[in-house]
Amino acid sequence: MSRTILGESPAVKDLLKLIGRVAGSKTNLLVIGESGTGKELVARMIHESGPLKDKPFIPVNCGAIPENLIESEMFGHRRGSFTGAVSEKMGLFEAANGGTLFLDEVGELPLNMQVKLLRAIQERVFRKVGGNDDIKVDLRIIAATNRDLEAAVAKGTFREDLYYRLNVILIKTPPLRERTGDVELLAKSFLHRISTRSKRSFEGFTPEALAALIAHSWPGNIRELENVIERAVTLEAGNLIMKESLPLTVFSSPTVPVSSRKNEISSISLTGTAGGSNGDSAEIRLPAPDFSKGVLNLDAILNEIEKLYLTKALAHSGGVKRKAADLLGITFRSIRYRLTKLGIDTANGSEDTE
Ligand SMILES: Nc1ncnc2c1ncn2[C@@H]1O[C@H](COP(=O)(O)OP(=O)(O)OP(=O)(O)O)[C@@H](O)[C@H]1O
Ligand SMILES: [Mg+2]
Repeated sequence: MSRTILGESPAVKDLLKLIGRVAGSKTNLLVIGESGTGKELVARMIHESGPLKDKPFIPVNCGAIPENLIESEMFGHRRGSFTGAVSEKMGLFEAANGGTLFLDEVGELPLNMQVKLLRAIQERVFRKVGGNDDIKVDLRIIAATNRDLEAAVAKGTFREDLYYRLNVILIKTPPLRERTGDVELLAKSFLHRISTRSKRSFEGFTPEALAALIAHSWPGNIRELENVIERAVTLEAGNLIMKESLPLTVFSSPTVPVSSRKNEISSISLTGTAGGSNGDSAEIRLPAPDFSKGVLNLDAILNEIEKLYLTKALAHSGGVKRKAADLLGITFRSIRYRLTKLGIDTANGSEDTE
């Protein structure tokens, strides 16, 4: 993994400075930040720029291990210590010995495991499941979470003593919307990397595409940006990324991160659909996929979006289908097919015969 933390915003410069300062020590660190802001990248960079760089860096996603296996994953087990323990197993603490153990999603650990972890971290000693002797390790712990751990402590779902033990130094990864100045640089760098990997060559972005990227609020942060560029590289036939190759979500910028906007977007409002009005709505809100209320109808949702674009384009082109098709980047046959499919009535398309 040779990726580096890119960015020239003050927030990133501060982050890099802090990484430089902590890399040399073996202090425990807690990295917090929204999803996709680079928490794992920060942890790797700290490891790689410090004295432990030639030692192992072992990442473990605490939220992904089944509860009954966490202890054995972390500490290992003796042969025969439980059904299925057919051979002796080394745990992640031992594997990371001398290096860094990256406890990702640490907020997901069940309480009973938090107690065991506390001891291991405090005393640098643990026992394998089914084992009687203490095993000593010397490692650095970097923990990460996108949860509000203080709130979890207040609620009693995260142990206060463990929180303070991990949080010797706190590093916050800033959300992308707080450093929009970095969007262009990141987008260009991802475009370069992804296009090289897929043996394509791009000159860059059109000004409109770039403006849309900069205006978006990026609730999924850098990971979302990376995915958007990857998608655009796949969809774009030319050698410039146009705004048409960006997903709708980029134009429907919610202003708050995914985690904190609960009900707000759950109702669809594709305003101005049928008939279309003259005032183009600059923003299209999409419903958050909410499966709690029953089965969704993807076709109906997509039809709504299609309808909105078709009616807007027709309104814009004075009802002339051929022009509307050009606006949408589709062929005349295609718009005719879609209008029929969606039952959109276009009375004044007299010149639109083939
Ligand atoms: N400053 C940056 N410069 C370049 N790439 C970055 C930067 N920050 C993050 N990335 C990239 O964005 C992606 C997401 O980063 P990472 O996995 O570290 O985020 P995370 O905070 O751990 O996310 P999650 O909470 O979803 O696990 C990765 O591909 C990473 O390489
Ligand atoms: Mg992560």
